[in-house]
Amino acid sequence: MKMSVIGCGHLGATHAACMASLGHEVIGVDIDEGKVSLLNSGKGWFHEPDLDPMLAESIAAGRLRFTTDFAEAAEFASVHFIGVATPGHADGSYDMSQLRAVLTSLVPHLRGDCLIIGKSTVTPGTAASLQALADRLLRPGQGRVEVAWNPEFLREGCAVADTLRPDRIVVGAVTEAAAETIREVYRPQTDAGIPLVLTDLPTSELAKGAANAFLATKISFINEIANVCEETGADVLEVARGMGLDQRIGKHFLRPGIGFGGSCFPKDVSALKQLAGNSGYHFQLLTAVIEVNELQKRRVVGKLQKHLGTLVGKQIALLGLAFKANTDDMREASSLVLSARLNADGAIVSAYDPVAEQEARTLMSGLDFADTAMDALRDADAVVLVTEWSEFLELDWHDVAQAMSGKLVIDGRNALDPEAVRAAGLLYEGIGRG
Ligand code: UGA
Repeated sequence: MKMSVIGCGHLGATHAACMASLGHEVIGVDIDEGKVSLLNSGKGWFHEPDLDPMLAESIAAGRLRFTTDFAEAAEFASVHFIGVATPGHADGSYDMSQLRAVLTSLVPHLRGDCLIIGKSTVTPGTAASLQALADRLLRPGQGRVEVAWNPEFLREGCAVADTLRPDRIVVGAVTEAAAETIREVYRPQTDAGIPLVLTDLPTSELAKGAANAFLATKISFINEIANVCEETGADVLEVARGMGLDQRIGKHFLRPGIGFGGSCFPKDVSALKQLAGNSGYHFQLLTAVIEVNELQKRRVVGKLQKHLGTLVGKQIALLGLAFKANTDDMREASSLVLSARLNADGAIVSAYDPVAEQEARTLMSGLDFADTAMDALRDADAVVLVTEWSEFLELDWHDVAQAMSGKLVIDGRNALDPEAVRAAGLLYEGIGRG
């Protein structure tokens, strides 16, 4: 099938590459010329494992190209995916301006009946309001435009695998014709056994927000259990294993740490809470999920103070800055709160991230960026593992002990081997490890 994918960020560029790899003919559209020319050379403008080879292969095979020209996309295809960002407003609602801008740019060029499929995360009612906008933009003789919704569930860092082999595909569509077109798009995946949940528009829109809010709830829950473990001497990793093997609970998203971050969970939890509030329902649970997450980001500072006393003049090394491993995304990263708190408490902060440094430099001040993990932790009183990059798991802890001036290692992700750290004469403290 021929299709366009409008908005070539993490979601859109990955979707475009994956659709092309499934055999479709795809044109990606973005308003940023720099991003378009980089993508046309087979390179993503963000860090995403496995994406670049897939881009290069599909471009070479003639099934994928990128443009800034909406008219070209309209002429090329009658199926148009939209994957632009819907950032959060300060009040918790989503900013829909990019979605509206896409329709305003695209619809005047459409000819014949077309299907527009939104993939961005939105509140229920958005697809219907975009349908109304599309209807207003259409001129007589242009044909009909239907807006459907197909929320994306990919995770940064494993976006390609998540797009090719999702647990499910959720689609909201009004007409059978739209549903049939979408079935055709995803046929290679549904034939391979991936379930398709075909439903109405508001249900599909809410399915995404509810999924993210539930996953965030799971993380805040296990973070609170970790905090109870610290009071009771239990080990949260074993508690999580004992819980997660119950199929009704499931083992995923039970990793305690320094709080969830990223461009999705913090925004989507707030948006769902705000949506419920606006509809007259006070979603109490989500208020607690947000609060627990904020407190969790600050607990590392308490652990440092417990061991070091005042932090004034103490040198603290942060290993990793990105909101999680395998991405350069710094949005809502816990490191932002942590380093600001350490600065405010008078600590001298050094940091190293193998991929996110450039992005971090635009958002963080008052810390030294090191070129390697060992440079960051040289002469440090304490080291905090903030992001679980694999290279930190391979550090030689005897070398680390030699390089540091203090002994404290705080494992904010429970990713290190406590025995290996202790064997080097260092003091290990994880999250909820008894
Ligand atoms: C999340 C969802 O997992 C995706 O399904 C969804 O499509 C995406 O948001 C989105 O709405 O676009 P993402 O933000 O890329 O994906 O990252 P996750 O892997 O879900 O991690 C989110 C945060 O939770 C990270 O800070 C991570 O470190 C933290 N986390 C995750 C934990 O602290 N513990 C866990 O057990 C799992």
